Amino acid sequence: MIIAIDGPAASGKGTLARKIAEYLGFFYLDTGSLYRAVARDVLARGFRLDDTWAAVAMARSLDPASLDDQGLREPGVGEAASRIAGIPEVRAALLEYQRLFAKSSPGAVLDGRDIGTVVCPDACAKIFVTATPEERARRRFLERQALNGDVTYEETLVMIRNRDARDAGRDSAPMRRADDADLLDTTEMDIETAFDAAVGLIKRKISQ
Ligand code: DC
Repeated sequence: MIIAIDGPAASGKGTLARKIAEYLGFFYLDTGSLYRAVARDVLARGFRLDDTWAAVAMARSLDPASLDDQGLREPGVGEAASRIAGIPEVRAALLEYQRLFAKSSPGAVLDGRDIGTVVCPDACAKIFVTATPEERARRRFLERQALNGDVTYEETLVMIRNRDARDAGRDSAPMRRADDADLLDTTEMDIETAFDAAVGLIKRKISQ
């Protein structure tokens, strides 16, 4: 059984997907970490982010054991990931790993941008998690402030808007709500409320 959770940066989809996987006893894959890891490897070897050959080579040789690296969470890596994610050959190179993971038994929860549309169009439940850019910027700003005081809310909002535009505007598997995905707007929700709502949506889909 596959649960697909998509949505923009800082929508809360990662926390939600992890909690849902724990609740259902399913395996969990943060597919953003794949793109982040490829970007990390491209940069670490001194290649340019628009070097398709290098990015594809890094994607093909990606070590899944390196996906827990804390360095992947840094804002610069997220930005770089968003850029290499626009390269169709990189997306193709990461597709098989995601689809194989999705077949995990008894089930898998995957979160990302294109899970419900491209990676697992047959997922039994799909949720597109969102929140206003202002609320997502507020959340990201608080996280970044706790790590490094030298950030402003305004620059975080610009970063969120730019990331949304890049992820939704690319030609290859753009971020998009699948036609059969439920929308979950977490703007006014804390994580527990969002979790309860998501579980309700999943149970309804499974019983249909
Ligand atoms: O979810 P995240 O912020 O960790 O993802 C980082 C970038 O990776 C995101 O801006 C776009 C890309 N990405 C993608 O294109 N497709 C996915 N399924 C997951 C992430």
